[in-house]
Amino acid sequence: MKKKIVAGNWKMNKTFKEAEDLLFGIADALISGRPDDVEVVVCPPALYLELATDVATEHDFSCGAQNLSEHEAGAYTGEISAAMIRSTGAAYVILGHSERRTYYGEHDQLIGKKILQALRHELIPIYCCGEVLEEREAGRHFQVVEKQISDALSGLDADAFSKVVIAYEPVWAIGTGRTASPEQAQEMHAFIRKVLASHFGEHAANDTTILYGGSCNAANARELFANPDVDGGLIGGASLKAEDFVKIVNSF
Ligand code: G3P
Repeated sequence: MKKKIVAGNWKMNKTFKEAEDLLFGIADALISGRPDDVEVVVCPPALYLELATDVATEHDFSCGAQNLSEHEAGAYTGEISAAMIRSTGAAYVILGHSERRTYYGEHDQLIGKKILQALRHELIPIYCCGEVLEEREAGRHFQVVEKQISDALSGLDADAFSKVVIAYEPVWAIGTGRTASPEQAQEMHAFIRKVLASHFGEHAANDTTILYGGSCNAANARELFANPDVDGGLIGGASLKAEDFVKIVNSF
């Protein structure tokens, strides 16, 4: 079911005490005011998921991980399994983030396996797609995103796909302060919905939540979220300050 979602991707930030302070800061800011039809998701480093879900349960928001292993369990030193994440009470997992693709060589086929593993453990995948600057400047951004969607998702059946959230994150906008314009975001989100319709049908595509990520902040979120195919945001830097993050939550 399509939802309005604002998710914060903390990436590799915050010590334990800083994480605790940020979680309670978000909780307090949400108490001061939040729309009741927007789901708030906090994705801290996995180390803090149990702490985060304890606070989240008390304050009506959800939590997610930033990655997971495609393996069920076993001799994979340093890895974290879907079952472990689910056992903390987390509900979401970000998969296919451009930083995982760039720094750790993740590709669509592997990410597709991770999506299946997440679904096996009733985690909601937030599947990230998006082009790099050279691809956009060459006019290949639609082709790139279509391939990312098809390669990672086309093997899912309709029921499995219905649980997937998509995040369009133009790589050239991530961490750069150079946000996609509302028109660019709407154009790509509408295109993604068309691609999804070709795989899963109009109804499923219209029911899919598609988030925008890439230098989304308290100043530009309202204009981005005002677009018909932008269902919320996946927020990086601006999720690391409670006030800023909750201002984005209140930007619909
Ligand atoms: O996953 C969201 C993230 O990649 C966006 O980062 O700092 O541009 O909001 P940022």
